[in-house]
Amino acid sequence: MKNRNITWHQSAVTKKDRHLLNGHKSCVLWFTGLSGSGKSTLANAVDYELYQQGFHSYVLDGDNVRHGLNSDLSFRVKDRKENIRRIGEVAKLFIDSGQIVSSAFISPFQEDREIVRQLFQPEEFIEVFVKCPLHVCEDRDPNGLYVKARQGEIPEFTGISSPYEIPDKPEIIIETDKLSIDQSVEAVISYLKEQKIL
Ligand code: ADX
Repeated sequence: MKNRNITWHQSAVTKKDRHLLNGHKSCVLWFTGLSGSGKSTLANAVDYELYQQGFHSYVLDGDNVRHGLNSDLSFRVKDRKENIRRIGEVAKLFIDSGQIVSSAFISPFQEDREIVRQLFQPEEFIEVFVKCPLHVCEDRDPNGLYVKARQGEIPEFTGISSPYEIPDKPEIIIETDKLSIDQSVEAVISYLKEQKIL
């Protein structure tokens, strides 16, 4: 339920002030894709490169966030929606703080990703489709979850018993079965430079 007895406090230091101080703009790189597609690997590799080049950045990772902030949420459609809604709001705070945030969540539903997109200025939300065929993700199966899902031990597993909706118009597509991590990082950093975020 919405609480009506609260007001929005304008901060003394604006987002623009922080951009000037940092020497770059802020944005969210919204990595979306199947489990095992390489979202976390790529988000962390991009974050590391940004850090090395002196930019202010941070990673929000699905598995990690589900240990804390979102530990009360399941993988039912309604809870996945709430998972993504909360992350969208957290990403917004990071953008307000002047940082480049890489978020790595399956975020399987187009509608939920669109709702998050609407929280931002158009240039602030960069959807990165981490594209990888299901059979490759299954072969990788880093945590043995696909095997369990195939055996019916994990209900509503994305790609197996729960859908993944392919992004309509992602800003960036990275095919992780075709590109190396270095090439993938380079593609993302180049986009940020082209867009004059860096
Ligand atoms: S999302 O669908 O709500 O965006 P999120 O990215 O937070 O998912 O969490 C996905 C991670 O949780 C996967 O990488 C995997 O390790 C784990 N996981 C556990 N159960 C499931 C499931 N039923 N479907 C997908 N991922 C699951």
